[in-house]
Amino acid sequence: MRVLVIGSGAREHAIAWKLKQSPRVTEVSVAPGNGGTAQIAENLDIKPMDFEALAVASHHMDLVVVGPEEPLAKGIVDYFDQQRIPIVGPSRAAAEIESSKVFSKALMEKYGIPNALGCSFSSYDQARAYIEGQDTPLVVKADGLAAGKGVIVAQSTKEALGALYRIMVERAFGPAGERVIVEECLEGQEVSLMAFTDGITVAPMLPVCDYKRVHDYDQGPNTGGMGSYCPPSFLTAETIEEAQKRVLEPAVEALAAEGRPYQGVLYAGLMITPKGLKVLEFNARFGDPETQAVLPLLETDLAQILWAIYSQTLAQVKVRWSNDSSVGVVLASQGYPGPYATGFPISGLGTLDEGVQAFHAGTGQASGIWLTSGGRVLTVVAQGDTMAEAREKAYRNVDRVHFQGAHYRKDIAALS
Ligand code: AMP
Ligand code: GLY
Repeated sequence: MRVLVIGSGAREHAIAWKLKQSPRVTEVSVAPGNGGTAQIAENLDIKPMDFEALAVASHHMDLVVVGPEEPLAKGIVDYFDQQRIPIVGPSRAAAEIESSKVFSKALMEKYGIPNALGCSFSSYDQARAYIEGQDTPLVVKADGLAAGKGVIVAQSTKEALGALYRIMVERAFGPAGERVIVEECLEGQEVSLMAFTDGITVAPMLPVCDYKRVHDYDQGPNTGGMGSYCPPSFLTAETIEEAQKRVLEPAVEALAAEGRPYQGVLYAGLMITPKGLKVLEFNARFGDPETQAVLPLLETDLAQILWAIYSQTLAQVKVRWSNDSSVGVVLASQGYPGPYATGFPISGLGTLDEGVQAFHAGTGQASGIWLTSGGRVLTVVAQGDTMAEAREKAYRNVDRVHFQGAHYRKDIAALS
């Protein structure tokens, strides 16, 4: 099988790395990829939104896998389907479960999938009146894709009104702010549960936790993710079963019933509250940085699973997972998630322990020297029999990688 992975982050490096282990896979290409994927695959200099060029490059591919949400939301799967190029991922209509929070909430309400109490608004005045009548804290969400920045957890009415104004009037997130959701703030433990689905069978992955804030113990601004660990001990087998029965399977059935059959990876962001589990969000793809910790624990051939999703034969595949634990720590550039400089030499990548992965996001090479080229530079991922062992191994290896201004969280999996 020749496989093309679309995207350029550490998530796509992890997907390409896993695909390389498949005896079925002869060739992996990544578009556009990064310094890390160039080591194990062929990088194609094509942007994820350039569907035409991607389709031309895909004509000799046996399967195309999409990493990021934007091409899914813009209909890359529909476009490739028309050209009969095998691609795995949801159609534009099915991907609306991520690209429109209003659609996603309406779907959950209609099909009884547990989620936060709240309302959708397309009128600023009505949203404002609603906020003024609610207790705080409140969560205000832009409807559309906003690069992970469109959700504001407001502690006061003033803060919620300010968020509403920025989203709907100032249009801080552009057309994503034409509609909003205002909902209750849920308290509890957050966990991501992703699943492979061909639209009929739903095969859950291991649950995983990610870290969004830049500093230890969830201080500082949000980032694209500073680390992840898998699986969290607080999530019992019963709760996972409940999430499968009350969230993942009903969501796939609901989308089918709405004429939007879903094939791909479905990601449920869950809050485990004292009143039971509730959905915070759905994503239409692999999570980042969750995937970097989860995929090393996958024992079944990823290419086989992805092909089964495409050919709707997932029922025939037994998806197996290791009992180990996995911890991923992101090394970021000084200043990230604000402005940062790049081009600093990275040392130590050749000294990592056997079996430890370094999934690259913002790296490049010049004259054989690794250089930083992005905000999130790479994720160091390690596995162990226990979470403590995986964590110790991950940090032991993080300490060997150096570049000027590097920073990372020290508390990944500390309270797992
Ligand atoms: P979303 O993109 O909807 O997942 O929101 C991003 C983050 O905001 C989530 O990962 C949660 O940490 C937080 N969040 C979203 N909705 C809620 C809610 N109703 N209550 C508390 N936190 C929330
Ligand atoms: N880690 C959250 C996401 O991938 O959207």
